[in-house]
Amino acid sequence: MKIVFATNNAHKLQEVQQVLGSEFELITLRDCGVTEDIPENEPTLEGNALAKARYIYQRTGYDCFADDTGLEVDALGGEPGVRSARYATDGHDDQANKRLLLERLEGKENREAQFRTAVALILGGEEYLFEGVVRGEITTSERGEGGFGYDPLFVPEGYDKTFAELSAEEKNAISHRGRAVRKLAEFLKK
Ligand code: IMP
Repeated sequence: MKIVFATNNAHKLQEVQQVLGSEFELITLRDCGVTEDIPENEPTLEGNALAKARYIYQRTGYDCFADDTGLEVDALGGEPGVRSARYATDGHDDQANKRLLLERLEGKENREAQFRTAVALILGGEEYLFEGVVRGEITTSERGEGGFGYDPLFVPEGYDKTFAELSAEEKNAISHRGRAVRKLAEFLKK
């Protein structure tokens, strides 16, 4: 089955393709000629995922899905949440985002957090939402070279390694995006 995944992020594409398997051929935004930035101005992850999927569906007419992920930190009232990409600056500066997160958590005992992914699917014009969550803790410094974004600062529950220290397979098996995309895959296979 061919389906558009509304991303140009190579890391995400690889993760999601690995979870979906070879039954699904993912088409990126670039592949279908969408080169402009898609607005992500909604106040929730679900709103952003739906807005991206609707944009692609209206622009191309293809079945498609889009995701939006946030890191929700308990001691920060769920921040950075939907603003995770633009936490420190309006750009998408991972280094600055990680620095700011560590600064905001300085001296705080509770470092519990979760990654949450919302996936919006448009199939034959109908809209569907799927969610994936992984709980864990924020470290006090970066560890590991793998993954992307906040991965070097996040230790999933039941592990002593950060997402950036786990292999791609290990991360996918328990991650927010892996969980949401497996729900999507089960639905699509029905
Ligand atoms: P988005 O889903 O691309 O909008 O991601 C929002 C923000 O969360 C960006 O700063 C990403 O780097 C970060 N992010 C998304 N998914 C992950 C992940 O799996 N690990 C670490 N950071 C992530």
